[in-house]
Amino acid sequence: MDYLSISDSNSSLINVRPVKDWRETTVVYLDVVLNTIIEMDTSQIMTSLLSFKMTWKNQFLQWNPSDFCGISKILVPVSLLWQPDIYVFEVTQQDESPAVPYLTVYSDGTVEQTKPLRVVSACSLNIFKFPFDSQICNLTFGTYTNSVDDIILIPESNSSSVTETSNAVFINKGDWVLTGINVSGHNVSFNSLNISQIQYRISIRRIPINHLINLIVPACFLVLVDIASMFIPMDGGERLGFKITVVLGFSVLLLILNDLLPASADPPILGVFCSVCLCIMIISIIDSIFICYMLHLSAVRPEAPKWMKVWILKHLAFVLRVDTKLKDEDIVHTPPESSKTSIVSVPLENELSIETKKYIQKNDKDSAEVKLLKKLLVEILFIRREMILTRREGDAKTEWNLIAFVLDRLILITYLVTLVIMLIVVLFVWIA
Ligand SMILES: *[C@@H]1O[C@H](CO)[C@@H](O)[C@H](O)[C@H]1NC(C)=O
Ligand SMILES: *[C@@H]1O[C@H](CO)[C@@H](O)[C@H](O)[C@H]1NC(C)=O
Repeated sequence: MDYLSISDSNSSLINVRPVKDWRETTVVYLDVVLNTIIEMDTSQIMTSLLSFKMTWKNQFLQWNPSDFCGISKILVPVSLLWQPDIYVFEVTQQDESPAVPYLTVYSDGTVEQTKPLRVVSACSLNIFKFPFDSQICNLTFGTYTNSVDDIILIPESNSSSVTETSNAVFINKGDWVLTGINVSGHNVSFNSLNISQIQYRISIRRIPINHLINLIVPACFLVLVDIASMFIPMDGGERLGFKITVVLGFSVLLLILNDLLPASADPPILGVFCSVCLCIMIISIIDSIFICYMLHLSAVRPEAPKWMKVWILKHLAFVLRVDTKLKDEDIVHTPPESSKTSIVSVPLENELSIETKKYIQKNDKDSAEVKLLKKLLVEILFIRREMILTRREGDAKTEWNLIAFVLDRLILITYLVTLVIMLIVVLFVWIA
């Protein structure tokens, strides 16, 4: 140390770039190994841990090892020697890396600084494909005040060897996989100063399994349950309560998703999918409310409006292939055809009585048994007429039920079609 005149008092070694001719450029070799990604924040901040190494030549620190018992390298306190001012340009937080107090000096004047570097850097995320997304984060190392004439930065390893060494040590915490690191050097004009920079472009891919289990699978199940709930009987309002519970559960998932994702200009396709699902769930809830109202109406006012019967029971039902044949007669207001087995045209009261009377009177001279049988026949015919009349009343009531059923089917089909289209789009985006 004495021979090299390294001491506290020698300030020129600390403060001045160590070249004998000031026009000479100091070449600084940089090497970076990515150890792990500590955190990827929702505010688009990446915290990473690097092994950082830089080497340069100090022209005033040279000795002949054979003169000093073969010592070819010494460790010197950091504070005693000049170091290049290298910054990471994306850094958003003060350096909290553990300090390494020594530099290594070799006998030919090469100074080497190795230290762990905890970098908190900005990284704009593209989360459109979340959770199947890949990100590229830049770490740009450069000098801040020394121009390219004073300091040139040169990457010590090329892209493939940086990727290889990083992959060998990369600690995968279960959220990101390292896919590659691209190294490139530039000269950049900055503050009217031409400076030298090295950019490490870190490509990482998200491991989706956690989000798949915690988010996507439950969401799919909830949607399935909601579809299944379309088959709960419409009356009784049970379905409404059930659907609202499902929507509550779904909105909890949406909250979780919202917490996971960074604010971004283009929303993830998963978020769009969830919003569409929520939207259609709410539409089906409104549909259920509407159906409850219709069933209530059927008790109060059995006759449905004519336009409803025409548009919903005839056209819509035809499009949706819902069988409303039984009710077609009601829409056109034709009396039902008399069934083949009956002797009389059933629902018309006058005709019934006249014809029966005739039938009975014609055969006045019948035996007592036949008379009894004919009386019985008349009774049975009356009972039959009453039954048909009550059934028609019931049919008018179920007109509303049928309208509700057709509407419900419409919502169910719309639900399924929208869901399938969205699923195809989402899968297409994720696979592409
Ligand atoms: C990284 O740098 C490249 C070019 O140097 C640039 O195109 C890209 O937008 C940068 N990425 C981020 C996330 O800043
Ligand atoms: C940057 O400029 C220096 C000096 O002008 C030159 O030697 C070096 O090759 C340049 N580096 C790049 C990456 O263009």
